[in-house]
Amino acid sequence: MRTGAQVVVLDALSEMLYGAEMKRDNLKEVRQHGEFEFHEVDIRQRAALEAVFAKHDDIDVVVHLAALAGVRPSIANAPKYYDVNVRGSATLMEVARAHGVKRFVLASSSSVYGTNTKTPFAEDDPVINPASPYAASKRAMELMAQTDFRLHGGDITCLRFFTVYGPRQRPDMAINKFMRIIAAKERLPMFGDGTSGRDYTYIDDIVQGVCRAVEQLDGYNVYNLGGDKVVLLKELIATIADVMGVEALVDQLPMQPGDVPLTMADLTRSRAELGYSPTTALRQGVEKMWAWHQRRYHGTA
Ligand SMILES: NC(=O)c1ccc[n+]([C@@H]2O[C@H](COP(=O)([O-])OP(=O)(O)OC[C@H]3O[C@@H](n4cnc5c(N)ncnc54)[C@H](O)[C@@H]3O)[C@@H](O)[C@H]2O)c1
Repeated sequence: MRTGAQVVVLDALSEMLYGAEMKRDNLKEVRQHGEFEFHEVDIRQRAALEAVFAKHDDIDVVVHLAALAGVRPSIANAPKYYDVNVRGSATLMEVARAHGVKRFVLASSSSVYGTNTKTPFAEDDPVINPASPYAASKRAMELMAQTDFRLHGGDITCLRFFTVYGPRQRPDMAINKFMRIIAAKERLPMFGDGTSGRDYTYIDDIVQGVCRAVEQLDGYNVYNLGGDKVVLLKELIATIADVMGVEALVDQLPMQPGDVPLTMADLTRSRAELGYSPTTALRQGVEKMWAWHQRRYHGTA
């Protein structure tokens, strides 16, 4: 989606979850779609942030996606997750505000709904049952942003992304990982009996939601960005294998700590207020992702 905006990208290129090399390759791919200025900066480093905002004194909006993501690794690294996702986010917002920025879009997560049993998950549901340090850090970031809004005003939107997939998806996430395992003809570890459900959201739909949120910033708001359909893990594996044209060899393992049985977005508010409308069905998204996967990892397709 092209909006004509000038973009300055900050990323620490941290080695957590996956390496800086893949992140640099991602930046190269993204650059083919339009120019942007890149700074290797850690959002916890005030002086480095100051330098970027001083160089660009006309920044209109900050879209804050930087984070330590991932539920399972957050359990063994809780202090790091809180440090980046809460202290880093607060530092970024404070420095941006000091340089006149009043508009923020922040990436939150469906994981804030935790073990909520009411479905679908709506923005006004109480979010008091996070199931991992990652989930707690994203909820803490929302509360930090809400407090920041109360004290300093401006416009802040938190977007709760539901399991995002597509080209350049994190390699630790299910679809990317499954494609690598199936392509290597290895056995696929399936945590649980395959009946856990996720609302998978294709990256183009997330980008559409982020762009709409930027256009319609208005006070403090929280919106779900989901794919509008729950897919069971066993259905996901079957779809990936079908798209790849091979059989998946599955090993069933116990559910992992921190994992929740279901995510399911209520999109009533984001449809009505943002005009958000996801359009990519799972199979279509998996086909596009597999085409990218083959180009990126096998130089084909
Ligand atoms: N992928 C999903 O399904 C999903 C779901 C819900 C929310 N989110 C959120 O969306 C955002 C992007 O997630 P992603 O899946 O693309 O993850 P990602 O790991 O690919 O992207 C996060 C980026 O943040 C950078 N980063 C980490 N620590 C940093 C720091 N201290 N300073 C500056 N940069 C730092 C990393 O290097 C990485 O490039 C995150 O905020 C994540 O919590 C993602």
